[in-house]
Amino acid sequence: MLIAGNWKMFRGPDPAALAGLDAVICPPFTRLHDCVDAGLTTFAQNVHWEPEGAYTGEVSAPLLLEVGVVGVLVGHSERRQYFCETDETVARRTRAALDAGLRVIACVGETHEQRERDETEDVLRRQLAVLEPHPDLVLAYEPVWAIGTGLTATPELAQEAHAFIKSLLDAPVLYGGSVKPDNAAALLAQPDVDGALVGGASLDVDSFQAICETAARIPS
Ligand code: PGA
Repeated sequence: MLIAGNWKMFRGPDPAALAGLDAVICPPFTRLHDCVDAGLTTFAQNVHWEPEGAYTGEVSAPLLLEVGVVGVLVGHSERRQYFCETDETVARRTRAALDAGLRVIACVGETHEQRERDETEDVLRRQLAVLEPHPDLVLAYEPVWAIGTGLTATPELAQEAHAFIKSLLDAPVLYGGSVKPDNAAALLAQPDVDGALVGGASLDVDSFQAICETAARIPS
C-alpha cells in the first residue's frame, strides 16, 4: 500500500511534522531539499527527458538525484490540461526517469466529457499504450472529474477502472481524486487499489496522517 501526497504548487506543511510517516511526498521544487532533509521519501512533480540542456524551466533526473530525490510524478492531468503534456512527452519523461534510477508515478485518467461519452477505456488504453512495465513504475488512476472537486469515484468505479488498467499494464495502481480521511478506507479496501495519490488532503498534516494510518491497517 503506497500513499503519496501531491502538494502541487502549494507550500505545504512543515516537512519535520511528517517525519517517520510511511508515505511519498511530492512537494514543489523549492521544498524538495527540506523534505529530503527531514528524511521523507521525496518525489518531484516533473522531470525532463534530457539529462541537461537549454530547457528553461525544466529539471532533469541527474539534478533531482543530486539533491536526494528518489522519484517523480509524471503525466498528472494538470500537466496534460494546462501545460501541453502529451502521451508522447509522458512516455519520454517516464523512460528517462526510470533509466536514471528514479521511481515513477505515472498518472492516467479520463475527463468528465470522456466518461459521459463512454470513452474511459479508450482513453486509458491510449494513455497506457506508451508505457511499459518496470519494477519502479507505479500508475495512478486519477479521473480528472474527481480531482480537487470533492467528487470521488465510488469504490466500485475505482475498482473497475483499476482492474481494467492492470489488464493492460502490470503495475501497482494508486487511486487519486478527492481522497480524504473519510473515504480512504472504502477506496483502499478494493482489491486492485494499491494506494492513493492525495492532493488537497495531503496539505493538512492530520488529514494526511489519518489516510496513512488507514492504509497501514489494510492487509496487503
Ligand atoms: P485532490 O488531488 O486529492 O485534491 O483531488 C489529487 C491529485 O491531483 O493528485
